[in-house]
Amino acid sequence: MLSLDVSQAASFLPQDYLTSRQPALEKAASMLANHDGPGGDFTGWVYLPRDYDKEEFARIQAAAEKIRKQSQVLVVIGIGGSYLGARAVIDLLRSPYYNLKKKDTPDIFFTGNGLSTDALLEIISLIGDRDFSVNVISKSGTTTESAVGFRVFKGLLEKKYGKEGARERIYSTTDKARGALKGLSDAEGYEEFVVPDAIGGRYSVLTAVGLLPIACAGIDITALMGGARQAMEELSVGGLDNPAWQYAATRHGLYCAGKKVEMLAGYEPAFRFFAEWWKQLYGESEGKEHKGLLPASLEYTADLHSMGQYIQEGERIMCETVVNFQPKGEFLIPDDPENIDGLNFLSGKPLAFVAEKAMRGVILAHVDGGVPNVLIQMPPISETTVGYLIYFFEYVCGLSGYLLGVNPFNQPGVEAYKSNMFALLGKPGYEEKQAELEARL
Ligand code: PA5
Repeated sequence: MLSLDVSQAASFLPQDYLTSRQPALEKAASMLANHDGPGGDFTGWVYLPRDYDKEEFARIQAAAEKIRKQSQVLVVIGIGGSYLGARAVIDLLRSPYYNLKKKDTPDIFFTGNGLSTDALLEIISLIGDRDFSVNVISKSGTTTESAVGFRVFKGLLEKKYGKEGARERIYSTTDKARGALKGLSDAEGYEEFVVPDAIGGRYSVLTAVGLLPIACAGIDITALMGGARQAMEELSVGGLDNPAWQYAATRHGLYCAGKKVEMLAGYEPAFRFFAEWWKQLYGESEGKEHKGLLPASLEYTADLHSMGQYIQEGERIMCETVVNFQPKGEFLIPDDPENIDGLNFLSGKPLAFVAEKAMRGVILAHVDGGVPNVLIQMPPISETTVGYLIYFFEYVCGLSGYLLGVNPFNQPGVEAYKSNMFALLGKPGYEEKQAELEARL
């Protein structure tokens, strides 16, 4: 399904580098398989494509069907791991222009992922007087951005449909036992889905967190899980032929060789949000103890005309991972009898041929400029291939964190901004910190 080429990174690594990493990879893979490494309590995603809750999965499909019938709009409220995966998959499988398309599924707006007044007002105005439902996603239920967003849209639903009617349109994805949203959902009688205990937000796209919005968009979630399961089965076979082992070892070797930034580049505009999801996955998993490759993303070929100069000749701190999907269709470049642009030598050639040559040229130029490259080749975008790729990146991320010597499944650093924000907002209990911070402003 996935073909990995690390040959354009080899000259940046010591000889026999992959072989030398074999024992560390064996240990990392064993810790993931047995859930006994650092953060092992949060490795429930490893066998998720096989062991997912089939009863809940059927409820997700039924709820998606109900939402599609009852609403023209679905508002998804969540931040970070609670929304990036769903947005990534919907963009990639249905299009970044999904809301503009003629379709028999609802428009989907993502909110509760920031504190922009203008963005919030815009979504309210875009919903207009259309029927809408809400999927609020928060493990804790106390994340400020999402909690504020839910307050707003719960209020709007209750005003429009009454408390009873709103209850029929609110779907809550949260902890199975604890937290503010769990308490509220139980009290109000919302339909509930679970953020599993053993799966952190950034690994949760293949749980109800991602699957309910994804299913609402009309995507075949059974096929998505099937692709992930295929990846799980193939990548669990250890050895240096395993592409996950090769990729994890290569990016770790490049980091040890002085690279500080990994740029994920895609050639599909629809891939942009997938790269956002990837950035959270790797940034939150590896960026700790003052270590880790900084994940960045690029959309080619567009960004070659904005970032290309820096990549070619700026600081030599980057390595590059390219994800290239085969196209689903074909487009032939038209002939122009006047040939004013001099491009008739391409007449009749598939656009994909031009894209392939461009990609190969870019890789060689970047390698010549000191930017090592890893190439991931994928079949055309489909539920199966996207499910496979999600699991591939998750699994490589787990291996990579263990190679780096960090716990890839916690995120202690995320709390720092939250406690400052609460203090400055005057949240009860933060009085001392508030005084200390205000004195510094
Ligand atoms: O990956 C993570 O754990 C985070 O991105 C969380 O998903 C995010 O902070 C939202 O948290 P919560 O689900 O508690 O609202």
